[in-house]
This record gives sequence, C-alpha cells and structure tokens, in this order.
Amino acid sequence: MTSMEGNLSARGKAIAAQKPNFLDVLSDLWAPESNPDGIVNIGLAENSLMHAEMERFINSNSQIDAHALTYGDGFSGSHRLKEAICHFLNSQFSPWTALCPSHLTITSGVSNAVECCAWALADFGDYVLVGRPYFNAFKTTFGTRPGYGINIKLLVTFATTDPFSMAAVQHYEKAYAEAKSKGFRIKAFLLCSPHNPLGRCYPENVLKEYMKFCTRHGLHLICDEIYALSVWENPRLPDAPGFRSVLSMDIKEVMEPSMVHVVWGLNQVATAVLLDDKFTRVYVATNRHRLAESYRFTTNFLRSHHIPYAESNAAFFVWMNLKAALKDPATTDKEILAKLRKEKVYIAIGTAYAAEEVEWFRMVFAHPQNVLEEGLNRMLRAIQS
Ligand SMILES: Cc1ncc(COP(=O)(O)O)c(C=O)c1O
Repeated sequence: MTSMEGNLSARGKAIAAQKPNFLDVLSDLWAPESNPDGIVNIGLAENSLMHAEMERFINSNSQIDAHALTYGDGFSGSHRLKEAICHFLNSQFSPWTALCPSHLTITSGVSNAVECCAWALADFGDYVLVGRPYFNAFKTTFGTRPGYGINIKLLVTFATTDPFSMAAVQHYEKAYAEAKSKGFRIKAFLLCSPHNPLGRCYPENVLKEYMKFCTRHGLHLICDEIYALSVWENPRLPDAPGFRSVLSMDIKEVMEPSMVHVVWGLNQVATAVLLDDKFTRVYVATNRHRLAESYRFTTNFLRSHHIPYAESNAAFFVWMNLKAALKDPATTDKEILAKLRKEKVYIAIGTAYAAEEVEWFRMVFAHPQNVLEEGLNRMLRAIQS
C-alpha cells in the first residue's frame, strides 16, 4: 500500500486492493511493428472490428454546442441524447411500448448503470441471484462500491442443464429456496442477454418464465442487453435463438413493469451516430458480418487443434476448454494462466466468471485476423509447453 492509500477510507482501501489485473496488459499492448514483444489482448470484451468506421464517423460528425458546457437538462442525460437513444432503440429493439425520454436514465457506461441499479434497488447485505458463469465485473458492480456489501454470492449452478433452457428455471427456484431457508434477503435477479461469456441469447419463452419467477418472489429483474446488436449467424448453431429484448415483450402480462430494468450502451454515445439511420444500419450489419467471420476463423483454428469450445452466436466470446488440449493434463488452470502470461497473450480464466468447472477460459474473437492469428498461436505455444 502506498502512503497515500494509507489515508484512504476503509472503502477506498478495499477498492484499491482490487485493482484489475488487465491494467498491466493495457500498458504493454502488442503491435506488430512498434511493440512486437507486447501482450496480445484477446481477453478484454472489446470489439475492434468496427473501429475504422466509427472513428471516421465520429471525427467527421462531431459537433457540440454550448449547452454541453452547462448543467444541461439535469443529471440523467440530455433531452437530445435521450431522444436519439429512443429513436434508435425503438427501431432496433422493437419495444412493446415505444420508449420515450422519460423512460431513460443515461450513465457513463453500462457498468455504471448496473451499479446504479444495485445501489438503488438493494440494501447492505441483500443478495442478487445470478447464473454461472457470469461477467466477472458484476462482482465489483454489485459487491464493492454500492453500499459495500450487496452480494452476488447467490450463484445458480446448472451442471448439465442448458442455462438457456426452460429446465434451467428450476435451478433458480432451487437456489432461491435454499437461500431463503438460510434467511438471506434476495432483491433482484440478474440476467445478461446476450450472455457474457457464453455468447448466446435467451429464447422468449425462457425470458417470460424468468419474469414469472421474479413475480412469484417479488424480485427486480435487471437485464443487461449490452450485446443486443452483436448477434450473428453461426451455421453450426442453425436453431440458436436470435436476440429478443425483454422490452419487446408484453411485460405487464407477467411482471410489474416498474420492476424491470434494462441496461444497454455504447462506450462513447454520440447522438449523431444514433440519429443517422443509414450509418447505423450499415454499421450494425457490417459488425454482424465481421463478427461471424472472426468467429469462423477462430473456431476453425480451435477445431484443427482439438481444443473444445462451446458454440455461440452472439457477443464476442469463445468459451473454450484449454485443459482438454494440454500437453500435460495435470496442469492446473492457474498454471495455464501463467503459461499464457509467459507467452504474452491475455486470455481470461473461467473461474473469474464463476465457471462451474476449472477447465474453461474466455477469449475475445472480435479482432482482425492478424491479431487472432498471433494470439491463437501464442495460446497454442502456451498449452503445448
Ligand atoms: C455484460 C456486460 N455489461 C457491461 C459491460 C461494461 O460496459 P461499459 O464499458 O459500458 O461500462 C460489459 C463489458 O465488458 C459487459 O460485457
């Protein structure tokens, strides 16, 4: 701890101790020409496939007026941005009830929106139900800052049940009943659809069943739909359901609408982007096409090296079993991680996502072929060493 950290509050110290381990990856990023010995980052949930288009659009369309230099329209986002988001989501998410600006609150990022939900909906010591595996940062957004004690320890395990199936609902019931019998107060049910890290969408009937589950137990539903527009075609999963926003369903049939909280976002929300229908149509379609191509490239590589993975059709992730492809099967997942580090490739360990088995790792495939090639070859060297 530095001397400055010694002066922090107990909360500040606890957070300082949880510095994410990807910061050192960011400070030594691989670049073929300027930093060939750097770390290939195929672990963070970033999509670099569409950078050029977005950079061009933002640089040629950015304009601000003096309104942006004031308190604006209050603390929950400008009217103009809310109108742009409504315009965009009303066409992309097909909401049952058209969205209007008063339905929205703008935050700086989706994590922040999730944290606001946690802070506003749960009290110290309350619990939130979430299925395994789950997006690792939920641990921080629910556990650390908002009141220092909201827990997402209520992890639902599925064993061999498909977490996207109707049968999975029973696992939530069981986890809920067990938690209640221990006297836990459960406030919310957290769903990530499309899912990080499994990269699949929940079908409509399952979503509806989850809403009924929330109604039976008086739970809020927090639905993180950040990957809504990153669903693509995987010929190996021809029947995979596409994305269905909970907003597109007749929520009041099964649940009190004020108990449903949907989060979605762009890393840098630009009103101009959201209002330009032609640009967004081409952008979303090209993104889907490039994601499908990068996924195909990545999974062809994995299959040709006998590395098992779970097929997906959404988001940026390949959930793969590196242990099954090891030269020495006695190697632990922590040792695999160390080998990956040694080969300078950043891939995330499954236990960070509360994976039920220790074999699993999550890689991000939303990168051009040269990055994937370099990262996958380094990964292969690591597991074959
Ligand atoms: C499911 C999910 N929610 C939220 C976020 C974070 O979004 P933001 O960078 O806008 O805070 C991520 C990013 O990885 C994510 O995968």
